[in-house]
Amino acid sequence: MCGIVGFAGRKQAAPVLMDGLKKLEYRGYDSSGVAVIDGDGNIEVVKAKGRLQSLIDKTDGDKTLHGSVGVGHTRWATHGEPNDVNSHPHLSRDGKFAVVHNGIIENYIELREFLIVRGYEFRSETDTEVIAHLLEYYYGGDMLDCMRKVLNKLVGSYALGVLYSGTPEAFYAVRKDSPLVVGLGDGENFVASDMPALLRHTRRFILLGEGEIVRVAADSVDIFNRNMEKVEHEIVTVDWDEATAEKNGYPHFMLKEIHEQPRALAAVLSRIKGDEIVLDNVKFTADEIKNIAKINIIGCGSAYHAGIIGKYFIERVCRKPVEVDLASEFRYRKPIIGKNTLTIVISQSGETADTLAALREAKRLGSRTLAVVNVLGSSIAREADDVLYTLAGPEIAVATTKGYTTQVAALYLIGLYFAGVIVSIPSEEYAGLLNSLKNLPAAVEEILAAPEKIQYLAAQYAGARDVFFIGRGMDYASALEGALKLKEISYIHAEAYPAGELKHGTISLIEKGSPVITVAVDPDLFEKTLSNAVEVATRGASVIAVAAKTNARIEQKADHTVFIPECSPLIAPVLTAVVLQLFGYYVAAAKGLDIDKPRNLAKSVTVE
Ligand code: F6R
Repeated sequence: MCGIVGFAGRKQAAPVLMDGLKKLEYRGYDSSGVAVIDGDGNIEVVKAKGRLQSLIDKTDGDKTLHGSVGVGHTRWATHGEPNDVNSHPHLSRDGKFAVVHNGIIENYIELREFLIVRGYEFRSETDTEVIAHLLEYYYGGDMLDCMRKVLNKLVGSYALGVLYSGTPEAFYAVRKDSPLVVGLGDGENFVASDMPALLRHTRRFILLGEGEIVRVAADSVDIFNRNMEKVEHEIVTVDWDEATAEKNGYPHFMLKEIHEQPRALAAVLSRIKGDEIVLDNVKFTADEIKNIAKINIIGCGSAYHAGIIGKYFIERVCRKPVEVDLASEFRYRKPIIGKNTLTIVISQSGETADTLAALREAKRLGSRTLAVVNVLGSSIAREADDVLYTLAGPEIAVATTKGYTTQVAALYLIGLYFAGVIVSIPSEEYAGLLNSLKNLPAAVEEILAAPEKIQYLAAQYAGARDVFFIGRGMDYASALEGALKLKEISYIHAEAYPAGELKHGTISLIEKGSPVITVAVDPDLFEKTLSNAVEVATRGASVIAVAAKTNARIEQKADHTVFIPECSPLIAPVLTAVVLQLFGYYVAAAKGLDIDKPRNLAKSVTVE
């Protein structure tokens, strides 16, 4: 949800900013802009509606911008439609301050009124413009003091990049509930909304803390807390290379990330050491695990779907009650949190506003919290009591793939780890599940090695208007995820239902040729799912089954069947997900759509 980049060095800033914005475009892509400052304090701003290319064109391939300090922004509009005026950076009335912002200023109307009665006029419809004017209003000779005063007025979430004409050698940045990292170079320093945006320049980062302000110059990085005390942070060095943020020959990041799943799964599952599971940052005593009375799992979108699989799995192997909630619903339903409740929050980005708010609510109500997160040092990872990183590596495509399957794998690890401690399943069952987990990367490879049938089916159904997905139990969660994948990137209306539910209303939509993707993996529920597939086939539906080989009888009733490799039914949802990811991907590819950046979406949803 909006990407920010900042640079201070001795060379031209614009190419660095444009390159960073290119890497951040997945966060928002309806408009973009940059501001650079030269040694005399002149600020130049260029903004353009549309994809980053419009900005590059407007600046003659960034040649027209000369300063060596600057900030840039790629936008996902919240306040005000995407146009040149509403794009960031926003300038103060006197043109001395330029601001880029990711997040939402919740009290911006009040602040607008405060400024209007003091003679300020607004050019844009954004919440961000108030910040530029407030900086001018509060500036009294000391930029840090000015920043502090302005931040004290803001309610909401923000990562900001700020230029001030009086300090042309540096820019300022701050973060609260929105991501921002500092990149350390040699005679040049950076900030960005995420690390991959800077991998071309550095692998050394500082993760800014909540509310911290940083002053970034070519040779110095000074960080201050809200009380203006200087703080030191350790430097984090990542071992990713630039290719992590490139497509590496794949036509889309989504396909690249689908193919990265064997490696990503192997990484998350590396916590299996022989017959044991060792969860690095999850520090529960045996008694604490035994005493857990209830588990809440919370996430948004695909993370929520991972949570449903987690619920089925944990209930099954730990025999403890698990509730799953959408983060946006959880905090407003006045959840009942008992003394021994554990809340697991799931988030690839670790910055999703609803999930972060739900985590805080669970903590406020006294729950212990465990985060399942991909992005290192993200807000959710830092605020939860314990964190299990999913180790998927950077995910650039807006539609999650490896982010999702590694979340599911992480939940399996948690469930099985707890089950091992409380001895809630027989040792043979434990060993069997562990074995299936160990085999997952190879099983995913098997699917990826032979995608032709899925590709063929995608081409067959790319013209569909509506697609239904059905399944029972964990297969229902897989259906939900498959439908989300398809609709978000192919724009085909797709709905998932528990297979037994269709006949309670939705079956009236089934007509001749309606595609019904039937997930039939769970052997215990197979007969029931088969009957449901027959019910829709009888009404003219075209049944496409995704099935376990043990349920091969579905072939007699389905128009097409894709089998997943052999696997424990409890672990198989990862394999089903890969098949349905490929299906969604190839449908969108057949339609020639912009797969990595679907319309209206953004990767990291940092607004509620
Ligand atoms: C779907 C998708 C979204 C995310 C959701 C949560 O493909 O990517 O539904 O799963 O926005 O995001 P995180 O996991 O970053 O909290």
